[in-house]
Amino acid sequence: MTTSESLFLENSLRRLSQFIKEAEKYEQQTKQQQQEIKISSPVKIVREYLEESNEISSIDDTVEQFQNFDEFFETKKHLYKTWSIYDEDNEQFLKNKQKLFKQLNTQINTMSSSTDKRVILVTGANKGIGFELVKKLSNNKDVIVLLATRDFKQGEHAAKKLGDCSNIHLLQLDTSSSQSIHQAAEQIRDAYGYLDVLINNAGIAKPDYNLQAARTTFATNYFGIKTLNRYLIPLMRPNGRIINVSSVIGLWTLDGCSDELKSKWLNPNLTESELDKLIDQFFASIERLTEELDGYPTQYSFLIYGMSKAALNMLTRIQANNLTNGILIHAVCPGYSDASLNQDLANEHSPSLGADSILYVVDHIENENGKLWQDGKKVEWTAPCKDDFLEFMKNMQAIQY
Ligand SMILES: NC(=O)c1ccc[n+]([C@@H]2O[C@H](COP(=O)([O-])OP(=O)(O)OC[C@H]3O[C@@H](n4cnc5c(N)ncnc54)[C@H](OP(=O)(O)O)[C@@H]3O)[C@@H](O)[C@H]2O)c1
Repeated sequence: MTTSESLFLENSLRRLSQFIKEAEKYEQQTKQQQQEIKISSPVKIVREYLEESNEISSIDDTVEQFQNFDEFFETKKHLYKTWSIYDEDNEQFLKNKQKLFKQLNTQINTMSSSTDKRVILVTGANKGIGFELVKKLSNNKDVIVLLATRDFKQGEHAAKKLGDCSNIHLLQLDTSSSQSIHQAAEQIRDAYGYLDVLINNAGIAKPDYNLQAARTTFATNYFGIKTLNRYLIPLMRPNGRIINVSSVIGLWTLDGCSDELKSKWLNPNLTESELDKLIDQFFASIERLTEELDGYPTQYSFLIYGMSKAALNMLTRIQANNLTNGILIHAVCPGYSDASLNQDLANEHSPSLGADSILYVVDHIENENGKLWQDGKKVEWTAPCKDDFLEFMKNMQAIQY
């Protein structure tokens, strides 16, 4: 048994013992309510099973006992059936139990099908560039691709379109929610034990311009990524890669800022908390309606989106300084591609080319860290906005970045 298999097994057993604890709690409650327990106790069943198998104490000794996974599954099935009788009047308990069994299943399935494969997570992967990334990655059978999606149904639909490949695993993840990030990180830790590549692709561009729109945009495009990185970097194996999917709009927007703002944002010694303060100041300007006075380029209708990507670029630069074990982090602009984010109005690039741009950096950039890339080329943190893009935005009434 490999180390990862033993890790998975350990996790499965830990889950099982959690299940017992939960069951005990439930039984206690039931007793308190003086309700009659109609059937034989599932706690007892699991206990007996564990006692007979005599395993929880030492994983190494368990190897042989657990070679027969069918037996393990059978126990779970039996428990599942038994519990349904208890569940009738306890919706929350049912939900917890279903979640637990789902996690156990993922663990066991993963254990039998995958170990030591490269694990790659793509956020916002149900459509657009994220979907193309999963499609390309799933051709490699030595890789497990975690297709992360905030709406699980959309994820299932996407996986179906890709032929339900065995190396594509679905993960529910809303990157604007700390709770969802926490749960997803736990699931990855329990099911795989490690991560090799994290592609922070999920992103939004809101059509409205106000404080709420700014907060919502930054919640996904900046704060969510920051939180996800904090949870997942500790799970990364040596030489892992993180890609923050950004946009050249971020560097155009920063370029349009006053010199004073630019020097604050581009300060090479900027820390994460100082960056957060700069973002707070941007929000305050929007709230006071003093953006122009405060030095932001209000001529750009994509100001909020642009500042969120500028923040992501700066975060990439800062985090690169704190990574060890050969882990690298880069930002990549996938190019202006057809996507629902821009109402499919872009025609310069296909999402597939955008995905290629990202994968190029994952696979080919070895000797640099914390940079921004587009089409395989390194790009500076600021650059003047292209005239033709400004013209395009001016003429386009349908959307506003
Ligand atoms: N397309 C371009 O021209 C272009 C250019 C430069 C950079 N980019 C960047 O490329 C990335 C991918 O965008 P795209 O062009 O493929 O756009 P897209 O087709 O609109 O896809 C965006 C994806 O992000 C997901 N998403 C949004 N908010 C999320 C959240 N809070 N939690 C989890 N998922 C979330 C969306 O999920 P739902 O389906 O649930 O909404 C969708 O799967 C973005 O970061 C974008 O800023 C795009």
